[in-house]
Amino acid sequence: MHTASSTTAALYERVRRVIPPVEWPVFEDDIEAIVALKRERNAVILAHNYQTPEIFHCVADIVGDSLALARKAMTVDADVIVLAGVHFMAETAKLLNPGKTVLIPDLEAGCSLADSITAEDVRLMRSRYPGLPVITYVNTSAAVKAESDICCTSGNALAVVESLDMPRVIMIPDEYLARNIASQTAVEIVAWKGHCEVHERFTPADIRELREAHPGVVVLAHPECPPEVVAEADFAGSTAAMSDYVGRHRPGRVVLMTECSMSDNVAVAHPDVDFVRPCNLCPHMKRITLSNIRSALENNRHVVTIDPEVAAGARLAVERMLAI
Ligand code: 13P
Ligand code: SF4
Repeated sequence: MHTASSTTAALYERVRRVIPPVEWPVFEDDIEAIVALKRERNAVILAHNYQTPEIFHCVADIVGDSLALARKAMTVDADVIVLAGVHFMAETAKLLNPGKTVLIPDLEAGCSLADSITAEDVRLMRSRYPGLPVITYVNTSAAVKAESDICCTSGNALAVVESLDMPRVIMIPDEYLARNIASQTAVEIVAWKGHCEVHERFTPADIRELREAHPGVVVLAHPECPPEVVAEADFAGSTAAMSDYVGRHRPGRVVLMTECSMSDNVAVAHPDVDFVRPCNLCPHMKRITLSNIRSALENNRHVVTIDPEVAAGARLAVERMLAI
């Protein structure tokens, strides 16, 4: 069997349950280089819960859901931030750290929700529903955030909706998140027709089949899933809320109706829980690899920049959210 180097041997212990020994040598060289580059460049790596385990558990300094990454981005004490996630997350980190270099390893790491709406669409929504506040999911471009009153994530959407003290609000662009939140509040929500290409594929029939095949399985769903799916799940919450649920309740067997890497990352911390794994891959999240993280640090690319006027408006919407 391959013997890991001393730097990476301890790291492999963390992930041995989800990365077979035969795959590990492929990662070792990049991991060692990234650890050294972070030191040299005074850099930190922020990684979303959907990043693969060799990134999430072996090179990331800060991990979490979109809300945690935004909150923790504000406290980063480094010259360089590498965002292992998708472009809107890197933009959010830049908004909160205008003086730091923020890098995204692949500029094509987008998001179907962010692509579903433009700043012009938001202006049209406002003219169609005058006086209604616009709540914008963080899964959007900075230009869309700049047209908004406040942002939200799947972790705080209900709290944000209720904080505005308005009978009716606009919530964009995720139709399913909006409908899932609407079912928990008296506030009327006007939605947009955007969908997450990963979560829209889950169906209630998937859950019924899973329950039949795995009696007693606990089903957790992300609120970007269609409301019919959330209705059949035992719990719905952000990626961090799903992870916390597993830690708190320790179900014997669980399925996470979300992106595939989530189960691997949570399973590392819970060897006693059996993870059933029908899942969908996010092609955008999967664009980030150890090799392009290394290249990002070696070549200082791709630097995230935001037009200063757009950034000012977008930052306000994000800061309003973080103040709640
Ligand atoms: P979370 O904020 O729950 O991590 O979700 C982000 C995301 O992109 C889910 O698809
Ligand atoms: Fe966007 Fe969906 Fe991928 Fe999350 S999982 S980044 S919402 S496409």
